Amino acid sequence: MMADSIKIADGVYWVGALDWDIRDYHGYKLNGTTYNCYLVFGSNKVALIDNVYPGFSPQLLGRIKDAFQKENRELKIDIVIQNHIEMDHIHSLYEIIQKFPDVEVYSSTRAVSGIKNLFPALENFEIKTVKTGDSLDIGCKSFTFVEASMLHWPDSMFTFLNEDGILFSNDAFGQHICLSERFDYELSNGLLMKNAKKFFANLITPSSQIVVKKLDEVGKLGVLDKIKMIAPSHGQIWTKPEEIVNAYKKWATGKCKDKITFIYDTMHHSTRKMAHAMIEGVLSEGFEVKTFFLHPDERSNIVTDVLDSKAICLGSPTIMNNPFPSLGDIIFYFNCLRFDRTSLNKKAVVFGSKGWGGGAVKKLSNDLEQSGFEIFEEYDVFNIPHEEELNKCYEIGKRLAQSLKD
Ligand code: FEO
Repeated sequence: MMADSIKIADGVYWVGALDWDIRDYHGYKLNGTTYNCYLVFGSNKVALIDNVYPGFSPQLLGRIKDAFQKENRELKIDIVIQNHIEMDHIHSLYEIIQKFPDVEVYSSTRAVSGIKNLFPALENFEIKTVKTGDSLDIGCKSFTFVEASMLHWPDSMFTFLNEDGILFSNDAFGQHICLSERFDYELSNGLLMKNAKKFFANLITPSSQIVVKKLDEVGKLGVLDKIKMIAPSHGQIWTKPEEIVNAYKKWATGKCKDKITFIYDTMHHSTRKMAHAMIEGVLSEGFEVKTFFLHPDERSNIVTDVLDSKAICLGSPTIMNNPFPSLGDIIFYFNCLRFDRTSLNKKAVVFGSKGWGGGAVKKLSNDLEQSGFEIFEEYDVFNIPHEEELNKCYEIGKRLAQSLKD
């Protein structure tokens, strides 16, 4: 198909794919995304950085053809740099190799077994491996590689284009959005950061400590000061890289607002009444409150607000000695994301009403502790919370907010 490339620097083009229709990517609720790939023209060789999701190679190939026409060069890719091997960034690799049989493929060492597993036909194909500090010259342009294991997969790596100061960071610094624009300055900063924060909360949270170490390591390599542009594999390209780098430092080190996120469900309005009383206590201390009532709310948005909250208040009635089933999804997801106790340092209040024996509050506390939260207080009430109990909820909210003041 015909599709235009977009020049992002001299001899460097965005040639990715726009997925306008995707609404759920492995459980992440989104409203479209992009699979960004980049073509770099050296005087000797041409390198393609990353590939696209199944079904999107016609867009990729159309844009590649367009970029070659704009550069007035014979259509031939010499090198593929595969920064990550998740399906949304690698599926078209095999097609590229078939189309350009002499192409050399570069990846991290840990990517190799995954590539061979994904494409059994490449069993005997040589993949060149690189590690942090290795470089590759393609004539007038050169790359430095930085392994970025667990940012967010073991195989992940960054590729830095030395002459233009462009960091191809793959998933890191990405956003799941699909728009006509390609650059940060074409959007309002609020929209961009909201989506970058959602991406971090849902995909990078488990690697928070690694983010800090990696930024230190990149700084020591001398790369950080030279970055003029960050070109991730999803969403907009950052032309003011310090904005997203500083945001990552903030999110990865648990720097939060005076904010508490409430997540709760209710059976006969008792747990909801407790939540509302606790909210008043929190508000009385000047904290921001975000609420998620689990009937209509869902996990991707919840964790985005948890990311910059100092604490959460999780409420559930007890049903058959357990939490309400609607809590199961978010609890399971918290457990996947593992909010690191040391770096993110989040507290939790767990509350709810019970009919007879109870059980939901204790069970949820144990689950949250395993997910990295420090339990500040547990509170369950028998049947309906009356005036005295609602006052206690208010006091719990107030004490929690007071304990979180800097
Ligand atoms: Fe965008 Fe880890 O894939």
